[in-house]
Amino acid sequence: MIKINSFSTSLEAAHGLTKLLLEQIGQCTEKDFHLALSGGSTPAALFQLWVDQYKEIIPWNRLQLYWVDERCVPPDHPESNFGMTKRILLDKVPLSDLHIHRIHGEDCPEEEAKRYSALIDDLLIKRNTYPEFDCILLGIGVDGHTSSLFPGQQYLLTYAETYAVSVQPQTGQQRIALTGLPILHAHKVIFFATGKEKLAILKEVIKGEDQYPAGYIVSRAADAELFTDCPL
Ligand code: 6PG
Repeated sequence: MIKINSFSTSLEAAHGLTKLLLEQIGQCTEKDFHLALSGGSTPAALFQLWVDQYKEIIPWNRLQLYWVDERCVPPDHPESNFGMTKRILLDKVPLSDLHIHRIHGEDCPEEEAKRYSALIDDLLIKRNTYPEFDCILLGIGVDGHTSSLFPGQQYLLTYAETYAVSVQPQTGQQRIALTGLPILHAHKVIFFATGKEKLAILKEVIKGEDQYPAGYIVSRAADAELFTDCPL
């Protein structure tokens, strides 16, 4: 089940998450730390905090960065997850381009899902045949989605490939999304969800209900933690 870390403010939750992440990086002594980042507005605040207060503390050159999901748009599009991360974080910290592995949202989605799955398979060590991220940072949408795995797309939770094409149900926007099994095989899964509007869905998700992709992950992940400012 999931360990819940509930704080009074989103800033405190972001500090708590960062402290845990630093511990995880510190414990990974034999190799680089392979970290998958999510997009959306919650990580944007986290990345800004890293730039403002952790720039000298995070060992940037030990990180290999990947994306949990990407909107199928070019990197300079306002909705690009990579673009947001680049503007807020990557342009401001000493991290070599060789450590940044973005999803090409501008390319043919099916081909890019295959290319990125193969890249991950090449770069990460395997556990039970699945690539093992050291840490996956996930968000939770108010509809209970995580990564870009939306309710009604449950087949992506047990999908055979590491990444798949999904569709945002309201807008029809295509996404490239990390699928369920590699999420469950990560060394550590950290959910970061803040704001009053997330309280109702978080109450459902932490029960581990399968109808919500985030709930499916919560009930099966070996080592998952939630950082939030919601009173759970
Ligand atoms: C995306 C994200 C997505 C996000 C949730 C929560 O591309 O939209 O990666 O999975 O984590 O939608 O988003 P917010 O933090 O904006 O609520």
